[in-house]
Amino acid sequence: MTRAISLHDVSKSYTRGVRVVDRLSLDIPPGEFLVLLGPSGCGKSTVLRMIAGLEEIDEGELLLDGAYANELPPSGRDMAMVFQNFALYPNMTSRDNIGFPLRIESPGADPRPQVDATARMLGIQDLLDRLPAQLSGGERQRVAMGRAIARHPSAFLMDEPLSNLDAKLRNHLRAEIFRLTRDLGVTTVYVTHDQSEAMSLGDRVAVLRGGVLQQVGTPREVYALPVNVFVAAFIGTPRINLLRGLVRAPMGGAMTVSLGRQYLRLPEPLSLDHQLLRVQQGREVIVGLRSEAVRIGKPSSARPGEVPLHGLVEHVEFQGHEVLVHFNTGSQSAVVPDLEAPRPAARPARRRRREAGTVLDRLRERAGALRGGPAGAPRGGPVGVLDRPGQGEAPAAAEPRLPGDLIVRTTPDIGLRHGMQVPLLVDLAHLFVFDQHGERICPAPARLPDLEE
Ligand SMILES: Nc1ncnc2c1ncn2[C@@H]1O[C@H](COP(=O)(O)OP(=O)(O)OP(=O)(O)O)[C@@H](O)[C@H]1O
Ligand SMILES: [Mg+2]
Repeated sequence: MTRAISLHDVSKSYTRGVRVVDRLSLDIPPGEFLVLLGPSGCGKSTVLRMIAGLEEIDEGELLLDGAYANELPPSGRDMAMVFQNFALYPNMTSRDNIGFPLRIESPGADPRPQVDATARMLGIQDLLDRLPAQLSGGERQRVAMGRAIARHPSAFLMDEPLSNLDAKLRNHLRAEIFRLTRDLGVTTVYVTHDQSEAMSLGDRVAVLRGGVLQQVGTPREVYALPVNVFVAAFIGTPRINLLRGLVRAPMGGAMTVSLGRQYLRLPEPLSLDHQLLRVQQGREVIVGLRSEAVRIGKPSSARPGEVPLHGLVEHVEFQGHEVLVHFNTGSQSAVVPDLEAPRPAARPARRRRREAGTVLDRLRERAGALRGGPAGAPRGGPVGVLDRPGQGEAPAAAEPRLPGDLIVRTTPDIGLRHGMQVPLLVDLAHLFVFDQHGERICPAPARLPDLEE
């Protein structure tokens, strides 16, 4: 049996007035693999623990197969949880560890056949007679998975089960989890802060920030049509380039997005998405360019829809099969400060979005505070953006600083060196624009995903 899990407007506070999960609604159909993705402290584990029944739900409803389940004890939910540090019983062999929940469930029955079948599925038949201390980390995690799987639960709840393993093993077990959960067809909720793990595992990915659901969609949807700059920046490697821009739409003239010293001239006739940018005339926006939107090339080799830009090579990052070239284009990077920041301090329940001021207001406020200006906690809100250092503003402490404002992916044989001026081409079919609140305005929000392009 597999089950549907629904959360309706679920909230949770540990401290009065501080919501760590804020009105979360999610419908997970039977058999789906849903990934909860977000930075540290955004409430992922809390959501999972509320589904498991290990944490009380303050407000809202949890439905299991459509039935109200807020008060159901964990044992009545028929779910299996796998944690980051899954504690195996140290004095029990793998066989006994895997068989333990089976013996509890049906004391008279012989757990051997089920333990053996599970061990075969996980390829750990040879490890069944060993104690946990005689296993490697990856093997231990596999035994832990076996313990969760053996009793055929109706849902798996996994909380960063791979984060303590080395990269090779992580990839290997990731593939195994993918295969296993698909074979078993059991609803799975998987928590991670690793976007590549989320993208490779999930049927759908739910992106959380500060306890608030930002977007839920297939990996392709959240990548191709992120609802806001936070989702855009959280998903995809290398990270999307985010630049501060200004829309200029003079009467009768060409429409451009100014990027400081250079500008992008929107090709005529304007696409529908670009036409809709006209209302932003004179406003500051955030321009998002994923690596596939920019290539090295002379203006004469531009394809339809591509416009020129140029950049000064600041750093060449060799990756083996490709290089990442960090360019300085003379624009200002817009960064999302809490993407990889340490666990944020508890803050008051989220204010209403528009009351929180614009991103740029908060930017100024925060910069003022960092310079010793008016004191006060940074205000909550949809997205935060800070200037680059050297632009008169203080940097976000936790944001790693990379040279250049635009990263372009290219082949390793390109022979670029620091200090070279290089012509670039920007494909405006891949242009993202976000407004001052960080909401996506290009492609237009109402546009349906056209993922076959
Ligand atoms: N028992 C608790 N008492 C008080 N605050 C808590 C408790 N458990 C979690 N929190 C707070 O709730 C917020 C969400 O925590 P949670 O563990 O759900 O985050 P997370 O997204 O799983 O983070 P991580 O990726 O670091 O595991 C954090 O700010 C955390 O400090
Ligand atoms: Mg957690």
